[in-house]
Amino acid sequence: MIDFKDIIAKEIYDEAMGLSTDEIRDLIEIPGDEKMGDYAFPCFRLAKALRKAPQMIAADIAGRISGNDAFENVENVNAYVNFFINRAFFAGQVIDEVEEKGSEYGRSDVGAGRKVIVEYSSPNIAKPFHIGHIRSTVIGNAIYKLYDAVGFDVIRINHLGDYGTQFGKMIVAFRKWGSEEELAKDPIKTLLGYYTKFHQEAKKDPSLEDEAREAFVRLEAGEPEETALWKKFRELSLAEFNRVYDMLGITFDSYAGESFYSDKMPRFIKELKDKGLLIESQGAQIVDLEKYGMSPAMITKSDGSSLYVTRDIAAAVYRKETYDFYKCIYVVASQQNLHFRQWKQVLELMGYTWQKDCIHVPFGLVSLSDGDDIKMMSTREGTVVFLEDVLNTAVEKTADIMKEKNAQGIDIDEVSKEVGIGAVIFQELSNNRIKDYTFSWDKVLNFDGETGPYVQYTHARASSVLRNASEEEMAALRSADIDWSYLESDSAYTLVKLLYRVPEIVLEAAEKYEPSIVTRHLVDIAQAFNKFYHDEHILVDNRDEKLAKLALVLASKTVIANCLGLLGIKAPERM
Ligand code: ARG
Repeated sequence: MIDFKDIIAKEIYDEAMGLSTDEIRDLIEIPGDEKMGDYAFPCFRLAKALRKAPQMIAADIAGRISGNDAFENVENVNAYVNFFINRAFFAGQVIDEVEEKGSEYGRSDVGAGRKVIVEYSSPNIAKPFHIGHIRSTVIGNAIYKLYDAVGFDVIRINHLGDYGTQFGKMIVAFRKWGSEEELAKDPIKTLLGYYTKFHQEAKKDPSLEDEAREAFVRLEAGEPEETALWKKFRELSLAEFNRVYDMLGITFDSYAGESFYSDKMPRFIKELKDKGLLIESQGAQIVDLEKYGMSPAMITKSDGSSLYVTRDIAAAVYRKETYDFYKCIYVVASQQNLHFRQWKQVLELMGYTWQKDCIHVPFGLVSLSDGDDIKMMSTREGTVVFLEDVLNTAVEKTADIMKEKNAQGIDIDEVSKEVGIGAVIFQELSNNRIKDYTFSWDKVLNFDGETGPYVQYTHARASSVLRNASEEEMAALRSADIDWSYLESDSAYTLVKLLYRVPEIVLEAAEKYEPSIVTRHLVDIAQAFNKFYHDEHILVDNRDEKLAKLALVLASKTVIANCLGLLGIKAPERM
């Protein structure tokens, strides 16, 4: 793609200046005031080498550079050379590039040859996949897609919470009050019921707690009866989670969860002991982290069973040894900040310097707004809001809106899924991930706000414009001789600039683990497109003008679809 800074640096370069083109490039500024051009080059640094006043140098350079197609005008103001992009030329370059790359536009190969692990979603089995989990799932999936787009080899891991003392409780509860039939009907809600019942009963009869601990120790020792029950719970839960993943269009490369590491733990406990890091505290084994201002990391309990952090230590080393990752990204709520700090510190103390490549990507909480929403969203289960219900509600509500709008010739069933689920995903990715936010249907499904439906609607609008062009015209768009001078208006130029920046935006979003950078850019593109659409007549009689404008519409449609795709959202042709 055309790189204006590169062109400018090459044009300015002169051996006598004593600066390389890279150094010149670094000096180029983007003026705050558009009247000063699209790029500006300050000449102060050259004064010494050239033994001339900076103003004169600027005048020389401006005089020297003329006739480069990329610029409409190059002028000097005091010590600056100001460059005004040739809008027609620019539009042609960008649109041709989008046309040529198609669905690949925005992607790059920065990460080629390197492996990145993205661990996300990671719900706890036998527990509801609730609205809180949606954040890790959706943000993690977008981060996976961003890293994939910039060329890394990405491995997606779902670190299922499929282990821990709670399974001892569930096993005991199932034996005492459970039934296979009930379980098969509605597994997670039934298991949740057992779990709740266990806690109620244990208040009256504390010996149940001991029984549960024992059951977990037996499970960890691989006793067949406990293992079989646990397996059943896991499979039934996974089947339910997969229903949600299917709705979201999400898959994983590995479901190696916490249980996967249960037999790998002794090695690390021994290693910690050998390295003199373990100390005993009331029968438990801990790593003291007081020096680092943190509470201790508990490695084993007094009954010898392992803990969450221990499994995370084993998982990190296993992943390093198995995948030799360049980065291992953990998309987990900010509530677990302390856990991840402790864990990294323990890895560091163990001598694993690559712990710096393990990155906890935290995010804020989602809460529900007051009023009708809560009632509607938690019909079945009291206070727990199931993600599946949220997604289904989003689809139903979208279908209602579409029916109201009297959407004709549209497959409402299909499109309301794409739009409703897309709306929930988009909302999740709209704000800086670290911010807490309140879920509200009015915001999520507003077709005019900065929302998923608004962006998708813009895509559908572009598609509809293109449907109004003839086949012959659509074919002509692909031939080279388009007169780009019809795209010199402010609204066209603003749109072209936004399309131009997409590859850079995608890279920045990946580097910062921040999908909202793409979401915001997408809203900007949609707004710029709609301004262009309203300000200008596209389907005009003048054929050359019409073709130039259609080419911009087509490029916009491609870019919007690509960016939506990076967020895990579909781009319907009609809605
Ligand atoms: N299962 C955990 C939970 O729902 C999240 C797991 C996060 N990942 C990790 N490697 N600790 O809270």
